Amino acid sequence: MTRSTNDLGFIHQFVPGAEGGDGVCLLLLHGTGGDESSLIPLAGSIAPGAAVLSPRGRILENGMPRFFRRLAEGVFDQDDLRLQTAALARFIEAASRKYAIKPERIIAIGYSNGANVASSVMLTRPDLLRAAVLFRPMVPFVPQSSPDLNGVKALFSAARRDPIVSQSETGRLVEIFQTAGADVTVHWYRGGHELTEDDIEAAASWISDWRAAL
Ligand code: MLT
Repeated sequence: MTRSTNDLGFIHQFVPGAEGGDGVCLLLLHGTGGDESSLIPLAGSIAPGAAVLSPRGRILENGMPRFFRRLAEGVFDQDDLRLQTAALARFIEAASRKYAIKPERIIAIGYSNGANVASSVMLTRPDLLRAAVLFRPMVPFVPQSSPDLNGVKALFSAARRDPIVSQSETGRLVEIFQTAGADVTVHWYRGGHELTEDDIEAAASWISDWRAAL
């Protein structure tokens, strides 16, 4: 079992990738109430041999870790979102140096609140995260001017009966990313907000194609 460390501004875990591998590193971003160990069991199924960098969100909501504050379900505290997005961006840069991760080999894997902070980083620092798999993402904020996401690839894994994220919300995020030039694939699943085998299979296949093209 990997131990968590508390440095670089976030409690986190780092698991090195397979020796002689392609240097891909999964940036795992958990949902509300998860922590740095929640998504680690998925890593081997979605990207065998990849390194794993997994921070814990620094905000507590009734004891549950999150990556930024919200005022109500789906209503985000925009000041805190800006602060926490910048803190996570600094963490990614510092961790890349500490663990010798090539930034262009990082792929964000975010679920729910973790997907939302991942797209917030992508929309504010397009140079930092070039690929992402976002499970049940929402629009974290609407950028005042469209960032340059040319060359960025993203898989959105969305569900038609998600009680938290409507289909139109997913559509709005797709439009923001596509307008910015990102190459977005949307995988629609029939279920709800929870992660399923179907999500994992779609992510594994998409990541395998992304890795093959590196
Ligand atoms: C959650 O419960 O985490 C939300 O649906 C997403 C968020 O608040 O960022």
